[in-house]
Amino acid sequence: MKIYDKIVDLGKRRGIMYPSFEIYGGLSGFVDYGPIGSRIKQNIEDLLRRHYIVSDGCFEVQCPTVSPEDIWIASGHVGSFSDLLVECEKCGEAFRADKLLDEINIASEGKPPEQVKALMDENNIICPKCKGTFCDPYEYDLMFSTSVGTGAKKKTAYLRPETAQTTYLAFKRYWEYARKRLPFGVMQIGHSFRNEISPKQGMIRLREFNQAEIQYFLDPRDKSAPNLADFDRKVTIQDRQDIVHEDVSIVNAVETGMIKIPFLAYQLAKAMKVFEDMGIYGTRLRLRQHRDDEKAFYSSDTWDVEYESEAFGKIELVGISDRGEYDLGRHNEHSGSDMRVSFEGEKFIPHVIEVAYGVDRPFYCVLESCYRQEEDRSLFSFPTSVAPFRAAVFSLVKKSGIKEKAEDVFNKLKDQGVFVIVDHAGSIGKRYARADEIGIPVCVTCDYDTLSEGTVTIRDRDSKEQKRISVDELIDEIRG
Ligand code: GAP
Repeated sequence: MKIYDKIVDLGKRRGIMYPSFEIYGGLSGFVDYGPIGSRIKQNIEDLLRRHYIVSDGCFEVQCPTVSPEDIWIASGHVGSFSDLLVECEKCGEAFRADKLLDEINIASEGKPPEQVKALMDENNIICPKCKGTFCDPYEYDLMFSTSVGTGAKKKTAYLRPETAQTTYLAFKRYWEYARKRLPFGVMQIGHSFRNEISPKQGMIRLREFNQAEIQYFLDPRDKSAPNLADFDRKVTIQDRQDIVHEDVSIVNAVETGMIKIPFLAYQLAKAMKVFEDMGIYGTRLRLRQHRDDEKAFYSSDTWDVEYESEAFGKIELVGISDRGEYDLGRHNEHSGSDMRVSFEGEKFIPHVIEVAYGVDRPFYCVLESCYRQEEDRSLFSFPTSVAPFRAAVFSLVKKSGIKEKAEDVFNKLKDQGVFVIVDHAGSIGKRYARADEIGIPVCVTCDYDTLSEGTVTIRDRDSKEQKRISVDELIDEIRG
């Protein structure tokens, strides 16, 4: 079995994630997070909060997922947020033209339909399903539309395709909240929706997905990054001409002009650290600058942190873009609300550097990076901060008051706000295996000595080492 199939199998069996709407035959592009997966996803989001809200002082906001058409006309998404689609003339199956070309290593994202058609013709691209021929590529709108209200008051609305736009709208409120100083960052974690063309890559391309996007509002005269050196590291960089540079220090990439904007470089370096903290292999991460013909319509410079997945090849985990004054400028123009600020002697529309994380792709990459096969069993070696529970509490035997003692220990830990589980079923070996499978870092066993001496055995998931500590020390030990 390939790693992806093993992860999916474990995911379904142990309540991590599984296809949505299964009992009605399912619908591609949607997943459920089960009881264990929801805990892991929450921890990934909390880790992002720790890095951006706690450490970097960003604000967090929550906006609706349904929004009126005006916003998406102003942002430029209506009319531009599309992919090139081709349909098979024989079987009717639809494909993204750029993905078909990607498979033969031809980059075409962002190229106009005529050029894409020419590339497909030159390379004799036919339907992978039935070998039929394709119609000409055409633009396919990725936004889900809906309506709000009834009768004369009925309005067209869209499910947001990114959290970013809804964050921009209340910019003037954040400006007041930030005491009229720049820079500041505003983070929004929530659902976004894209009617992706035939998504077939599990959690990598979903139609409803989770984003954690941070919009940094900056003085256009100052895109410096005083803390960049603290996050410096050696990385592989693929530049906008698709040239690959190995082992480049990020500070050096700024000094040589490979990365033009220090603030953007800082965000790239920080994102790599964040992914490593989640448990994603740092050695599989690299930076890639978008080619000029590939950049989104709002961006003057975009970089991705990519992960080399065993199952899917290169996956974009976060996109970091200099959106300049594009978005606030467009809302300034279309809404009539003045988005300019007066700051340090000038009046201007602030620039935006966006750090656009997805949550579902990193979630999958955490599973792939932390998956371990050990003889007859598999486990996830999650870092403590991501693991669904900090510890599993067991009773060695159910008799002589040991089960009740284990329940006491469990209650004591959970009363201190720690996510823990208790398990009395089956042999200790089976319980270890069950806890390892969902990546619980520590198992705590209560036995006769727990009754007489107030000590427990704790066993480490990765080293399998065991030691005895007192119940009073337990909380500090498992908080890590
Ligand atoms: N606001 C900018 C923006 O949305 P993006 O590169 O289209 O940029 C940002 O999306 C991140 O959202 C991606 O790096 C990816 O992690 C995630 N993402 C985008 N589309 C996705 C999809 N269909 N399924 C799962 N995650 C997706």
